[in-house]
Amino acid sequence: MGDQKSMMVIGGQWGDEGKGKVVDLLSGSFLAVVRYNGGHNAGHTVRVGERKFALHLVPSGIIHPQTRCYMGAGLVIDPTALLTEIDRLSDEGIEVEGRLCLSPRAAIILPTHRALDLAREDRRGEGKIGTTGRGIGPAYQDIAQRRCLRTWMLATPAKLRDAARDLMLRHNAELVALFGAEEVDVDEALAEVMAAAKRLAPLLREVGPEIRRHVDGGDPILFEGAQGVLLDINWGTYPFVTSSSCLPGFAAASCGVGPGYLGPVLGVMKAYATRVGSGPFPTEDFGPDGDGLRDRGAEYGTTTGRPRRCGWFDVVAARHAIQTAGIDALALTKIDVLDGLKTLKVCVAYEGPGGELVETVPADAELLAEITPRYVDIPGWDGATEGMVSEETLPEGARAYLDFLEDQVGVPVALVSTGPRRDETMARGSSAMARRIAKILSGA
Ligand code: GDP
Ligand code: IMO
Ligand code: MG
Repeated sequence: MGDQKSMMVIGGQWGDEGKGKVVDLLSGSFLAVVRYNGGHNAGHTVRVGERKFALHLVPSGIIHPQTRCYMGAGLVIDPTALLTEIDRLSDEGIEVEGRLCLSPRAAIILPTHRALDLAREDRRGEGKIGTTGRGIGPAYQDIAQRRCLRTWMLATPAKLRDAARDLMLRHNAELVALFGAEEVDVDEALAEVMAAAKRLAPLLREVGPEIRRHVDGGDPILFEGAQGVLLDINWGTYPFVTSSSCLPGFAAASCGVGPGYLGPVLGVMKAYATRVGSGPFPTEDFGPDGDGLRDRGAEYGTTTGRPRRCGWFDVVAARHAIQTAGIDALALTKIDVLDGLKTLKVCVAYEGPGGELVETVPADAELLAEITPRYVDIPGWDGATEGMVSEETLPEGARAYLDFLEDQVGVPVALVSTGPRRDETMARGSSAMARRIAKILSGA
């Protein structure tokens, strides 16, 4: 392995922290970027000048013309969605051909997975998860059940056709028997899958050997997580989570490399908190402050357009994420959204229903829903952080807020984002991660 370590960017809250922006701005310095979990439930936004890109499956490194992009075995791939995304990028002048590789061991999402996702949510009624309706859960379920189609089949049309028909017929039987839902038209669905397969087959390539080749040759790579630790299938607010592991360790499993290939972990968190979909969210603000965060932060989902629930930074949840995922440093985004607020609240402790102190995010989501957050008030600041690129120019109050959060969570805040655009970013402090980021931002 070369001297320079690879790096990982993961979500530290409930997703939508700004991973796309951070991966894009760092990826100019990496030869390759790898997505390792989830599917097109993810929506990663990249803003470069006036241009805006919404990425769902394709790694956010794709905007840099020299960066290669890989998609690991741990992903679930809707062939039509991937193709649509590739075509949209081409229309935008981003050449994908020859730069994007897909593991032959990923799982294929079929139209019937989408139907099952929607039917199951419908059946849950009030208790629904609030999924993105993309078929993510049913596809991961089929992986575990050992009946999923895998992406290598995209290159063997006869096998794909037979296996897809067989599985979709089984899904249809389940749709009718378990949910009283309508069957999916299998011939139509097959035509959709087969058309996409033909065009995607040339992307197939084992990802592990490529990563080893890059890293062993001295070219570190960047791993891009989807979702966030609090949506992780094991460590999130189960069952209100996604169906994949969002933690760094899964990147090694997904790509077929040893953990030594991964490198330090940059956890992306917002300067406040949001969540889309159902489930406990202790610091959610139902009043005008929450509405204000949604308006100023344009908190509407990249994938589904749903309004995001908004609230305050939660130190207890942040510590849980940092410890379970081994986050080495934070990238704190959207501090500009707090400009102009008189007072900010930060949750520093959880109180249980009996008034007892709850030390960390409990395993029981029902208990988490009954938590009363204990807040401290932090004064806001005069002046704007919006668009700032250097630590020295930040208003005194914003610096104090960052110092406070860093002190509370126990890892350095090494990057601060002050706007959606690539250049609205600064390295902060003198940690190893901050020095590395400063070097990348200066183009050295
Ligand atoms: P991801 O899923 O973690 O990649 O995050 P999303 O792209 O879904 O959501 C983050 C949103 O915030 C996107 O619309 C970004 O363009 C935007 N964004 C990222 N960083 C900043 C920032 O520092 N300030 C503001 N105002 N917007 C930001
Ligand atoms: P990025 O990568 C925010 C949420 C859904 C729902 C739950 C389960 O953009 O941060 P699923 O469709 O995965 O079965 O839905 O997870 N969710 C996300 N929330 N950002 C995401 O991705 C998400 N991906 C899934 O809203 O609550
Ligand atoms: Mg998102």
